[in-house]
Amino acid sequence: MLQELTGKRAMVTGGSGGIGLAVGRRLVAAGVQVAFCGRTPAHVREAESILGGDKVWGSVVDLRDTNAIAAWFAESRARWAGLDILVNSAGVGIFGSVGALSLDDWRLTLETNLTAAFACCREAVPMMPDGGMVVNIGSLASRNAFAGGAAYNASKFGLLGLSEAFLLDYRAQDIRVSTVLPGSVDTAFSPRSQGGDTSWKLAAEDVAEVVMTILRMPDRALVSCVEMRPSRTAPK
Ligand SMILES: NC(=O)c1ccc[n+]([C@@H]2O[C@H](COP(=O)([O-])OP(=O)(O)OC[C@H]3O[C@@H](n4cnc5c(N)ncnc54)[C@H](OP(=O)(O)O)[C@@H]3O)[C@@H](O)[C@H]2O)c1
Repeated sequence: MLQELTGKRAMVTGGSGGIGLAVGRRLVAAGVQVAFCGRTPAHVREAESILGGDKVWGSVVDLRDTNAIAAWFAESRARWAGLDILVNSAGVGIFGSVGALSLDDWRLTLETNLTAAFACCREAVPMMPDGGMVVNIGSLASRNAFAGGAAYNASKFGLLGLSEAFLLDYRAQDIRVSTVLPGSVDTAFSPRSQGGDTSWKLAAEDVAEVVMTILRMPDRALVSCVEMRPSRTAPK
């Protein structure tokens, strides 16, 4: 039987935009209580007004700051005690060859896309003593390196490795860890992904649909990893 999500408690990183916001919308529509975070105050406020309702809590959190992550989880513990769902969607895309990337670019990418996801998973574990679900948003770049992708590939390959090890660490505690690896999605993700015809790309809602399917799977089934790509290729 598919899982009923109504009343469950979810935390979503990057819920102020793109895929995280689309996931938040679907969770709220399914009756889930949602605490989300984003980095830009105006985006967090806007997402709060889009998601609406009294079961949504938006917070401005810079995920590069592990103390801020700890404080965000402490807020949730004060509200709920436990946690059912964690979705790690926040991420940045900085692209350039190894020689062109600065150490700051590298750190920003690794801290946001990988270290923050680790810190959130780590905070979530004690809040899921009877099990829970974690969905990490990786990328096709978690498996396929490309020129200019040194920092992004490293962060997303790392996120996939973290997810797979985390799954094995807590499988016996019923924490089900899934990773979704999308191809190009039409969001504000990076300047490189904007402009021109974007109609061939996946929509954020397509990724959210997959996340919801994973979350609703019967609890005997663990969808460990999903790759998804646009049906069409980029126009030449
Ligand atoms: N778009 C694509 O083509 C694509 C493809 C494959 C995988 N992905 C992955 O999907 C995930 C979501 O990307 P998206 O396309 O939804 O991009 P997006 O529209 O740019 O959203 C990124 C989200 O991450 C948040 N964020 C970034 N840095 C943060 C920080 N330091 N602290 C807190 N929040 C931070 C942003 O917050 P603010 O807006 O409030 O600053 C925003 O909510 C990323 O992990 C990305 O790598 C994207």
